[in-house]
Amino acid sequence: MSAPNSAGLSAGFNAAPLDAAPFDAAPFSPAENAAMQAALAAAAQGPRGANPLVGAVVVGTDGTLLATGYHRGAGTAHAEADAIAQAKAAGLDLRGATIVVTLEPCNHCGRTGPCAQAIIEAGITDVVYAVDDPHDPAAGGALTLRAAGVRVRSGLAADAALDLNRRWFDAVATKRPFVTLHIAQTLDSRIAASDGTSQWISSPESLADNHALRGRIDAILVGTQTVLIDNPRLTARNADGEADGKQPLRAVMGYRGIPDDAAVHGADGNVLHLATRDPREALDQLFASGVRHLMVEGGSRILSAFLAGGLVDELIVYLAPTLLGSGTAALEGLGITTLADAQQWEWDPASGGAVQVLGRDLRLHLRPATPATPDATSTSSDTTPHRTGADTAAGGN
Ligand SMILES: NC(=O)c1ccc[n+]([C@@H]2O[C@H](COP(=O)([O-])OP(=O)(O)OC[C@H]3O[C@@H](n4cnc5c(N)ncnc54)[C@H](OP(=O)(O)O)[C@@H]3O)[C@@H](O)[C@H]2O)c1
Repeated sequence: MSAPNSAGLSAGFNAAPLDAAPFDAAPFSPAENAAMQAALAAAAQGPRGANPLVGAVVVGTDGTLLATGYHRGAGTAHAEADAIAQAKAAGLDLRGATIVVTLEPCNHCGRTGPCAQAIIEAGITDVVYAVDDPHDPAAGGALTLRAAGVRVRSGLAADAALDLNRRWFDAVATKRPFVTLHIAQTLDSRIAASDGTSQWISSPESLADNHALRGRIDAILVGTQTVLIDNPRLTARNADGEADGKQPLRAVMGYRGIPDDAAVHGADGNVLHLATRDPREALDQLFASGVRHLMVEGGSRILSAFLAGGLVDELIVYLAPTLLGSGTAALEGLGITTLADAQQWEWDPASGGAVQVLGRDLRLHLRPATPATPDATSTSSDTTPHRTGADTAAGGN
């Protein structure tokens, strides 16, 4: 994948095409600015996952914010439709109104119908949105709106809107899931003891943090060996051990089949066997299944394969103050034999900080190091774990 944000974004779409057409360049009013802030706040209430977080606010001709909507997940009304429905339910006439949206209104007939058409039918005459929709089937809403005589402007609060969905934007632009790699390890980098036991290396606080993350991703992946040894459920669970509402797809990678009685099947059967050892092939299959954010949990050979392939966008390491001295190393060979080829990562201050204390553990949050400006005198090879540099933006899904 490209960088977790900036490279993928620049390749995929235009964040602020204010010079695209003269009538697009009109300044944004104070009411539109206020509406965009409200739309961003509303968007953040949506569930993280395969769909982007989107918010929308309808603004009356006198600048009053009339209705706010947001997207509540796959199969539910889009933010624009939600806001329009609320305004209509309140008996408001939307003719001549403005709608302010954090993402370009869609143009596709998915499960919920095109938002561009809903806007036109409501009699809304002005659309302000933050960033273009890079998703091929959905893109084109602005063109449809303009063709119908609606004034369309974009680029308002574009940075904040990109930040809100940075992992989703990157996945869509590069056509592979954003990959978070999770390692729960001892101080001496072991993820299991020599007898195979690994539950639990981490503190209860780290486990709770991991389960919260599971509730925000689309899929979780482990190797066949981990399924055979640990028999994990791979569900997102709360402090009482109960399964949360939103569960990730459970993916198992490797040639061997999943035993019929494996816990990973769960009651819902929301499990996918990826009969491959090629991480790229696994990511292709997962992307085709709608996965935009994947968490790779292990074990050692799986973690190593994704890292060696330069396919990791974010590292979360739970470091327990525990020593084993032997057992399964977190990583086993990345094909690196000399220091000049070492993968370089940097601390990521986003989402709670680069280093957090969780019970007795430290939670380390890292991103691929931004490549240094090429030095004409340098002879060393590229040491970044990514094809391109890393994003420095905070937040995101
Ligand atoms: N502390 C933690 O965070 C954590 C998390 C998970 C697991 N673990 C521990 O990790 C240990 C298991 O690690 P592990 O390395 O032995 O097994 P693993 O990484 O879970 O699975 C390895 C298996 O996956 C398949 N595979 C798929 N792609 C592969 C690739 N590119 N390269 C190599 N193998 C690939 C192979 O089986 P096929 O023959 O089926 O292809 C291989 O035997 C367990 O003790 C478990 O408790 C710890």
